[in-house]
Amino acid sequence: MQENVVKALEWRYAVQSFDPLKRVSESDLKVILESGRLAPSSYGLEPWKFIVVENSEVRRRIRAASYDQSKVTEASHLIVVARRTDVRENIVHERIARTAEIQQQDPKSLAGFKEMLDGVIASRDDAALDAWVSRQVYIALGMMMEAASLLGIDNAAMEGFDPRGVDAALGLAEKNLTATVMLSIGYRGIDPAATRQKVRRDFGTVVEFLR
Ligand SMILES: Cc1cc2nc3c(=O)[nH]c(=O)nc-3n(C[C@H](O)[C@H](O)[C@H](O)COP(=O)(O)O)c2cc1C
Repeated sequence: MQENVVKALEWRYAVQSFDPLKRVSESDLKVILESGRLAPSSYGLEPWKFIVVENSEVRRRIRAASYDQSKVTEASHLIVVARRTDVRENIVHERIARTAEIQQQDPKSLAGFKEMLDGVIASRDDAALDAWVSRQVYIALGMMMEAASLLGIDNAAMEGFDPRGVDAALGLAEKNLTATVMLSIGYRGIDPAATRQKVRRDFGTVVEFLR
């Protein structure tokens, strides 16, 4: 198991060229999306939405807003990982309602938690709040990438796009969302990047033990 995890992560690389004919199965896709859904987030706010774009015309439009990156249209699936833009207005109320329903608690018993969350959000200005929300979204991204890699499914994260163009292609602004990062999943095609030696700093440089 330990070896398998490291092997899968060494095998994973940022795919440049996907095989457009190979499709990820619905069951593998579901596992990858569940890995994102189950990701932790600060205070459990889950300020994200994953949009699986299957429509080829929409994918063409997204590609046009993504420096013409071929992986947008050639990968089996494109997942746009969006973040909420209405955090200040709505997210605390939703978190409280969700917890009350799932854990069968009286929302009144969560008043202290609500007050704390309101304080956490009020303490940040709009830019800091948005940056904080973005950070949460990357946890879900990382977990989806790791899950895909463990399943032997190639993946490529992308930040190289104009969020306004992607938002417009998906009508995200009206849904209080904005594209943060995208993830293409599928199977590598003929891709020179696949055989390049992975460039990483040594374990001893990255990790320090204080014992
Ligand atoms: C959040 C994120 C965004 C990225 N955006 C792009 C992108 O838009 N286009 C691209 O070709 N590579 C993109 N990459 C790939 C990185 O350049 C790549 O992961 C890094 O160089 C390490 O190489 P490796 O993933 O092959 O090990 C992105 C990676 C991450 C994690």
